[in-house]
Amino acid sequence: MKFFIDTADIAEIRELAATGLVDGVTTNPSLIAKTGRNFLETIAEICEIIPGSVSAEVASTDFDTMLKEGLKLAKIAPNVTVKVPLTPAGLKTCKALSDQGTEVNVTLCFSAAQAILAAKAGATYVSPFVGRLDDIGEDGMGLIGDIIEIYASYTSITTQVLVASIRGPAHVIAAAKMGADVATLPPAVLKQMFGHPLTDKGLAAFVADWAKTGQSIL
Ligand code: E4P
Repeated sequence: MKFFIDTADIAEIRELAATGLVDGVTTNPSLIAKTGRNFLETIAEICEIIPGSVSAEVASTDFDTMLKEGLKLAKIAPNVTVKVPLTPAGLKTCKALSDQGTEVNVTLCFSAAQAILAAKAGATYVSPFVGRLDDIGEDGMGLIGDIIEIYASYTSITTQVLVASIRGPAHVIAAAKMGADVATLPPAVLKQMFGHPLTDKGLAAFVADWAKTGQSIL
């Protein structure tokens, strides 16, 4: 499973890229607004740090403007993935962009029916929001299972399932068990995944015992 990070914060992206575990980045207008920075410059900078897919979302909601925005975003760098909302105009934009070879991430997916449409529109990625579904008492990971099962029934479908709106490591584990293609993780969740109290306790004991030997490897 590929790991993307869900942030537009350059410092966080640099820090996590250094782990060698980050395959891509997803951003959205809310994450961009949080940085207070220029959108196009921020995406260009992220694309220089991360060689993998960097999702940059269109801001308008009508087809003509979305297409123009998508074409402009795609020109920023070869690794830009244009992100469009799962609406009729968004899927029309997805089709137009994917037909000409641009990678598209269809976002704000909340049902299997919507995921079927995204695949039909040629999406490179579909982003079902598991956390937001859980928040309203629905089963976010159940939706991931449904989409994976449907997509697996058709060899013609190449759309990758990108699990989004992840709230914690449990979502990542569930996504990996189901064989999801990608998980986009808030930086805090990726950091949480490293931790276990027994790792800390075990390491402290090893460091202390090693000191008693008086040896040095180097
Ligand atoms: C995905 O691409 C979205 O940016 C993101 O995962 C949304 O997550 P949220 O529900 O935490 O805002």
